[in-house]
Amino acid sequence: MSETSSPEVHPAWLPPSAFRALGSRRVHVEASGPLADTVRAEVARACALFGGNASSPPAAADLILTLAAVPSSGSGDGFLLARRGAATIVIADGPAGLLHGLFEVVRRGEAAFAPDLADERHEPALGLRVLDHWDNVDVHPVMGQVERGYAGGSIFWHHGRLRNDLTRVRDYARLLAATGINAVTVNNVNVHRSETHLLTDRLGEVAAIASTLRPYGIRLHLAINFAAPVILGDLPTADPLDDRVRRWWRETTDRVFATIPDFGGYLVKADSEGQPGPFTYGRTHADGANMLAAALAPHDAPVRWRAFVYNHRQDWRDRSTDRARAAHDHFAPLDGQFSGNVILQVKHGPMDFQTREPVSPVLFAMPRTRVAVELQVTQEYTGQQRHVCYLPPMWSGVLAFRPDGDSGPALAERLSTRTPGGGVLSAVANVGDDPFWTGHPLAQANLYAVGRLAWSPGRDPAAILDEWITLTFPDAPRQALHDLMADSWLTYEQYTAPLGVGFMVRPGHHYGPDVDGYEYTPWGTYHFADRDGIGVDRTTATGTGFTSQYPHPWSERYESPATCPDELLLFFHHVPYTHVLHSGTTVIQHIYDTHFAGAERVADMRARWADLAGTIDPAVHARVTERLAEQLRSAEEWRDQINTYFHRKSGIPDAKGRTIH
Ligand code: GCU
Repeated sequence: MSETSSPEVHPAWLPPSAFRALGSRRVHVEASGPLADTVRAEVARACALFGGNASSPPAAADLILTLAAVPSSGSGDGFLLARRGAATIVIADGPAGLLHGLFEVVRRGEAAFAPDLADERHEPALGLRVLDHWDNVDVHPVMGQVERGYAGGSIFWHHGRLRNDLTRVRDYARLLAATGINAVTVNNVNVHRSETHLLTDRLGEVAAIASTLRPYGIRLHLAINFAAPVILGDLPTADPLDDRVRRWWRETTDRVFATIPDFGGYLVKADSEGQPGPFTYGRTHADGANMLAAALAPHDAPVRWRAFVYNHRQDWRDRSTDRARAAHDHFAPLDGQFSGNVILQVKHGPMDFQTREPVSPVLFAMPRTRVAVELQVTQEYTGQQRHVCYLPPMWSGVLAFRPDGDSGPALAERLSTRTPGGGVLSAVANVGDDPFWTGHPLAQANLYAVGRLAWSPGRDPAAILDEWITLTFPDAPRQALHDLMADSWLTYEQYTAPLGVGFMVRPGHHYGPDVDGYEYTPWGTYHFADRDGIGVDRTTATGTGFTSQYPHPWSERYESPATCPDELLLFFHHVPYTHVLHSGTTVIQHIYDTHFAGAERVADMRARWADLAGTIDPAVHARVTERLAEQLRSAEEWRDQINTYFHRKSGIPDAKGRTIH
């Protein structure tokens, strides 16, 4: 099979114009080593384009990039941006800080050279900022090359092997470095047979990717198969307490580090959706994770162990089993049992990356465990990169959530202060070999923003959006683009599953409406709609008891419909259609109103995008135009199926008399 790569790859947020301010100046870089060489090459490229001087003597320089005299004890990612005399200066804590400082100057443009620039210290809130690719080496018969990928094939792998040309991987590393991301996992958490071999006999391919990412300060991680010692044929068991197994992992890991000295660590999906794990041997998740941690510890690297463990063969007739409870039930009792280099990686919500979920209580239930939050940039349940859906407002809500109530620290602070090395944010990547990287060109904003939020979780998503627009579309009317995208997550929510109930998607691929698609399946994702009402009773008084997994005051807030936020009402409660929301409207009328409004907003987005023709690169404009047509078709389909379904179930007409089929 031949590799086809498009000759025209979109520059995303690093078009040549982004380097104008830097490239037209006299620049001095005072550092040596591989990352400093990358910085120097970036400066040289920019100056060649815009007439600046890339090797100015320091006394004449407009910009000086240098390392701090005393190296910092931290990650080395931080830097000071300041004005000294007539020059702007970046004083970096370490080589990576030099690179981040360079990209801060790029982002600022002319403003980086303002004579009154005040001293600014920049440092990431979270130490490990990692994108997890769900890329398969082989083309999986159901999932294809990239599981839940909506942007073409993998940029790493092509039909069973490493791509010959890794130019795009290098470009990708550059784009990521400019957002603050510092690690990438190059294979799917569902580790099939070929991918299991990446750890051993196919490690050379992994090393080639690592070398390509390295110049931009991106470290490589691998998703591993817990049963690797068995699958690779070396041992009859993968029991984590068996000495032979422990030795196998130690020796295998030593070989990984001998080949890739800056290898980042392992990612593991165990005992989940059919993946092997310690349960097979009657062992706990702590036993499994600690075994891998022991193999990684001499190399000072972590294992990220996913908490996404639940029964995917549930009986839909059994209303007492609650998938939302599963991760907490499995993991909270293990608090204190994990080694120091185990990071428990927890999806941000208790279910599965739905458009609206409460924050997973596991994220703050384990004070003696290193915990990471996992976000999903790939739009599995949020429009599959055919719909505009700017996700950072949702992510910010998660990071700003205060587990102890309104006065305690936000989740992001807890994740960073508790953890040596400054916490972890991981996110499932949305990139493929598509010329626009993300299928939908506007989905690039989600990728850009996840890096920016991992660096600085308190930043306003709207400001990040403006930053992205300014870099990516320097000639487009910024406000018009901003208005089109800023609330697109809320628009998407309006025309899909209501009030936090989730799913209602087509089973398997998860695109488009199917209200009962998962209702009588083993997956544990139900809405329980009947003629009287809808929603899942997760209260402690009468339901599954999920609310009791939250600390005070959230357990009480969620327990009562009187205090539960409207947008999560059906996640926590089964209520009659006539239940009146805090907004003053009934549940059924809310369903009708939001579904009509959501589809109308998409029609409006499409019209506004059409008006932007001529201000946006024609290829981008055409691609987005095509996607918006599909988004409108899909939004209308959602609107009609949901409204009709609930009209038929409830028998209650729309108070405004609109057409329900
Ligand atoms: C979802 C998704 C799967 C994925 C899983 C996971 O269920 O649909 O494709 O493997 O999450 O996060 O492991």
